[in-house]
Amino acid sequence: MKINSQYSVKITEDGSPTLVLSTGVDHLFVEEKMHSRFGAASETEYIYGPAIDWAFEKIEAPRFIVVGLGLGYIEFLISRQGRLRNSIYEIHSFESDPFLRDSILAWLHEDPNDLDPVFCSALTSIAGRELDLQVKEDLRSMHEKGKWRISGAISPEAVGTPANGILYDLFSHKITPELWNDQFISSLLQKAAAKECSFASYASKGAIKRSLKTCGFTLVDKKGFAGKRESTLAFRTVF
Ligand SMILES: C[S@@+](CC[C@H](N)C(=O)[O-])C[C@H]1O[C@@H](n2cnc3c(N)ncnc32)[C@H](O)[C@@H]1O
Repeated sequence: MKINSQYSVKITEDGSPTLVLSTGVDHLFVEEKMHSRFGAASETEYIYGPAIDWAFEKIEAPRFIVVGLGLGYIEFLISRQGRLRNSIYEIHSFESDPFLRDSILAWLHEDPNDLDPVFCSALTSIAGRELDLQVKEDLRSMHEKGKWRISGAISPEAVGTPANGILYDLFSHKITPELWNDQFISSLLQKAAAKECSFASYASKGAIKRSLKTCGFTLVDKKGFAGKRESTLAFRTVF
């Protein structure tokens, strides 16, 4: 289903929705999906769940940085875990596209917009019908209190207080090459990572792994989602 000239919605194999971006790269028409076609919700749980749980287990009131808000799956997952654990937490999300930033806020505040059914379905895919309304209300209230911040394009200078969990979920290297090189990722980690910090990404680029090692993270071997060779999961603990 087409949303506008840029985005259309596709249902992935676990029944959860994703957005497909139509764009041009080097004069070529490119379509980029936000998630694996095998399951947007399942991929989010598999890739980002362990890093989120680690931060909740290690830190009393963890802070999270989500790089790439998109449809908010990662934020829904953090918030579901926060509620199940009865824990306080903060989130700072980054999203370069004002349409996506405005749409999720409109949806949170019950202001009708074209993506409403997509956010509802994404949320229920993560939180289930038992928790979806509570998770939505938690996020709305956190946003109102400044505990969930949504900023524009990611930059090391914009991260503010360092986080205990960094969830790096950008479009691929072919769409945003400047966000996948050693220099950018190292300087981001230096500003964004608290002493105790987890890091996860669906991607397994050498630049991420090198930068994590240089910054004192321990990498865990983790296969990618749905048969992909690798993903990235790393932790830094202070003894
Ligand atoms: C793979 S999608 C994120 C999916 C999302 N985490 C979700 O749960 O639906 C990548 C997102 O990164 C955003 N993005 C692209 N460049 C960015 C930048 N420089 N800073 C922050 N976000 C960016 C895109 O607009 C897109 O929404």
